[in-house]
Amino acid sequence: MLEPLHPLLRQAFDPERFLLLGQQILQDAVHHLKEAQSKVRERSMPWTPPEDEKLFWEARLDAPEGLAALLNLVGQRSNALQDPRYMGHQVAAPFPEGALVGLVTDLLNNGGAVYEMGPTNSAMEEVLMARIGSLMGLPDGCGGILCHGGTLANLVALLAARRRAGRGGVDTWVDGDGVKGAVLVSEQAHYCVDRAVRIMGWGAEGVGLVQTDGQHKMTRSGLEAAMQAMQEKGRKVVAVVGSACTTSSGAYDDLNVVADFAEQYGFWFHVDGAHGAPAAFSARHRHLVSGMERADSVAMDFHKIMGVPALCTGLFFRAQEMSFLPFTQSAEYLWSDAEDPEWWNFGKRTFECTKRMLSTRVAAVLEEYGSEIWGVLVDRLFGLGQEMAERIVERGDKGWQLAMEPEANIVCFRYLPVQFADVEQENAFTLKLRQTHLERGPQYIVQTKFSGKVWLRCTLMNPLTQAADVVELLDRIEDLAKQVQQM
Ligand SMILES: Cc1ncc(COP(=O)(O)O)c(C=O)c1O
Repeated sequence: MLEPLHPLLRQAFDPERFLLLGQQILQDAVHHLKEAQSKVRERSMPWTPPEDEKLFWEARLDAPEGLAALLNLVGQRSNALQDPRYMGHQVAAPFPEGALVGLVTDLLNNGGAVYEMGPTNSAMEEVLMARIGSLMGLPDGCGGILCHGGTLANLVALLAARRRAGRGGVDTWVDGDGVKGAVLVSEQAHYCVDRAVRIMGWGAEGVGLVQTDGQHKMTRSGLEAAMQAMQEKGRKVVAVVGSACTTSSGAYDDLNVVADFAEQYGFWFHVDGAHGAPAAFSARHRHLVSGMERADSVAMDFHKIMGVPALCTGLFFRAQEMSFLPFTQSAEYLWSDAEDPEWWNFGKRTFECTKRMLSTRVAAVLEEYGSEIWGVLVDRLFGLGQEMAERIVERGDKGWQLAMEPEANIVCFRYLPVQFADVEQENAFTLKLRQTHLERGPQYIVQTKFSGKVWLRCTLMNPLTQAADVVELLDRIEDLAKQVQQM
């Protein structure tokens, strides 16, 4: 006989308890938001060495104090992305109501691999992908899927490319892939393209790195050279990936150059717009993605410069039916006909089986603000990038160097207060400066390396960052540099 419901389970599912806890936690979250926005805390990134942090949690997790206490602690020890001094990696300072969407959708927790698991999920997703694709300038009939991250979206796009390329009627989904394929991509592209190619079984040599010019963009001659190098190795190029923009330097490839090249040779043209495709929503910056409308597929992260909490990525295809290319999965317990292009059973098109209720996250932004807010956000964040660059150039004669005029909200620069013997010493100094800054703050910035040089790197993700915050960062770096010189 079934035992009575255990008191713990009764407690866990008690709506009144949920309400009380929720009220407390929401209040705390608002407090956290206010604190972060007004820079009350000493630092936007509470740096602790990894082993110390692990020790802390080993002890704390042995002594539970309740959910509200736990969440407060997590808040205190986490990076405050809403802090205007957060200028680090490319994760959105999300519109706060995204957290409210999470509250409701996490409670509903509908899957959606098949329609009946979450009817709103798939229907809303189908509508949104077509509409947003059109707003981005993709052709009529475009469509696609939402998925968990740009890394996954890029992999799925390349799976589609491989399948379409085929080999004399061979279906790679059915027969596997005996051909040594290759993908061409900028030497400055995000590592996930390299990873995708290796996952596809084409190994390190399956990635044809295209050299970039002085502006960190792929050129026609670079593409031709990379293609030739691949052909000499007996590789069949299947796809070419344009970066909009690159992760390290924030440079937009000229997508028309890439599209012309792909068109001439019949390659799949994928745009990795995980970070920068939302430029399409800004009249001021749309030119940066000119040519994107010619792509076979585009990946765009809603959780970067579109204000949605991570992870939420759109993978758009030129034609909706192309979104069925990556997979043709038999699963009798889910659907009866693997070949049938049923948009409503999105497990047929997504890598994931269960996924979060992603469409509601995107719809929430449109519901509250309309797509206009994405253009406004892009203008603000790219404007901050420009502001930072101008402030750096202003100080140039005192040891400041800008890697390039920023096109987006990614700014790479160095500060070398004295003459160093060689680039190794310059790099060592920059690394030390960045590490010291990481440990002491108050801003959070990161680092990168290209053209043989280590750069300090900022991604301006928070629209509440002000020009004064930028000036404070530069002053702080000058100040810390003096300390580093004496170390
Ligand atoms: C250009 C580009 N592509 C792909 C990714 C990976 O995206 P995700 O972190 O959503 O997997 C990033 C992340 O920074 C990126 O900048």
